[in-house]
Amino acid sequence: MCIVRHLLVFLFHFTLGSLAQRFSNGYYYQDIVGHGNGKDNGEIYFHKIRLHVESPETLVSGVQGSNVTLPCHYHYVPALSTPRRTRVKWFWQPVNGQGQERDVMVAIGTRHRSYGDFKGRVRLRRNAPGDASLVINQLQSDDTGRYRCEIIDGLEDESVTVQLKFRGVVFPYYSAKGRYLMNFHEAQEACKKQGAHLASFEQLFIAWEEGLDWCNAGWLADGTAQYPVAVPREACGGTNLAPGVRSYGVRDKDLDRFDAFCFTSSIRGEVYFLQLPAKLNFTEAVLACQNDGGQIAKVGQLYTAWRFVGLDQCDAGWLADASVRYPIVHPRVNCGTSEPGVRSFGFPVKHLKFGVYCYKVRW
Ligand SMILES: *[C@@H]1O[C@H](CO)[C@@H](O)[C@H](O)[C@H]1NC(C)=O
Ligand SMILES: *[C@@H]1O[C@H](CO)[C@@H](O)[C@H](O)[C@H]1NC(C)=O
Repeated sequence: MCIVRHLLVFLFHFTLGSLAQRFSNGYYYQDIVGHGNGKDNGEIYFHKIRLHVESPETLVSGVQGSNVTLPCHYHYVPALSTPRRTRVKWFWQPVNGQGQERDVMVAIGTRHRSYGDFKGRVRLRRNAPGDASLVINQLQSDDTGRYRCEIIDGLEDESVTVQLKFRGVVFPYYSAKGRYLMNFHEAQEACKKQGAHLASFEQLFIAWEEGLDWCNAGWLADGTAQYPVAVPREACGGTNLAPGVRSYGVRDKDLDRFDAFCFTSSIRGEVYFLQLPAKLNFTEAVLACQNDGGQIAKVGQLYTAWRFVGLDQCDAGWLADASVRYPIVHPRVNCGTSEPGVRSFGFPVKHLKFGVYCYKVRW
C-alpha cells in the first residue's frame, strides 16, 4: 500500500523560495496541504500533478516454460515536458495474500537488479515511456501469485497489482488400488504418469476459487496434505467450518498415505474420442489409438482438453492408466452430475468394454 500519498504542487517559477522544499529537474515540488488550491499572489501558478499507475490486464496466465509479460504503465496528469527519474519496484506475494511480499526486481533508469529465484529471468519491457511491464522468462510453477508494480517518484508512490496464474488444471488422483494408498513419492510418480506434477498450494487454491470440491485429502508439492471444500457438509469435515482449502499440515513423506492433487498445464496436441463401431477392452483400446496414429490419452491430457479446448463427450472411454472417464462441459441428463467436470468410473476390470480417448501431437 501507498504509505505516503502526497498531492504535489508544481511550481513553474521559483520565486517562492521560502516555501520550496525540494529541487529536482529544475522544478520545485511542494505539498499542497495547507497552501490553498493553486493560485498565490496572482503571480505563482500551482498545478496539481498526479502520478497514475495502471495495468490493462490484472490477470495474466501462462504455461510452464513460457515467457509472460505482466503489464504496468505509469504517466503523469498533466503530462510532464521533462522526464522524471522514477524507480520501478516489483514485488511478489503468494496468491492467497498470506506471507510477506518478496522483492522481484528494482530498476532505476537502465540499471536493474533481480532477486532470489527471479535472478536473471526477469526484465522490464520498457517498450515506451512509462512502460514498466515485467517480463518473466521460463515460467516456473511457483512463480504464480500476486505481483505488485510500484512506481516511486521522489515524494509519491503508486502501485498496481497483477495476478499471475498458470494456465492449467488441477485434478484429484487416486491409485488404481484404492483410496489413500500413496505416500508422497508415489503421489509424485502417479501425477507424472498422467502427464502432470503435484499441484502447488496456490494452484489448488485457485482451483478451489474456481469451484473444485473434493472430499479426500491429497498430497501437494510442498509435502502437505489438503483438500478443497466449496460446500461444507457433514461427510466432508462438518458444516461448522467455512468453505475453503482444509489442511492436514506437513506430513511424513514416506509413512503417511493420501490421494494426490495433480496439476497439468501442457496444452500441445489434441485429445479426441475415437469413433469406432464397437466397444473395446483395455488392450484393444491401447492398440486402437496406436492404429489411429496416436496414443491412448493420459488423465492430465483429458483434463486439459476438457478445461481449455472444451472437449465435451458423453461417452465413457479408457485412458492410459486403465481408468475410464469422460469430459462434460455442458451438463445434461444421463451425463453425470449437474456440474461440468471429468466424470470417472474408476478403474474397471480390463476385459470390460468401453470407448477410448486418444492423444495426438499436433504438428
Ligand atoms: C523467452 O525469451 C527468451 C529470451 O528473450 C527467448 O530466448 C526464448 O525463446 C523465449 N521463449 C519462448 C517460449 O518464447
Ligand atoms: C481383449 O480382447 C482381446 C481379443 O480381442 C484379447 O486377446 C485380450 O486378452 C483382451 N484383453 C483383456 C485385458 O481382456
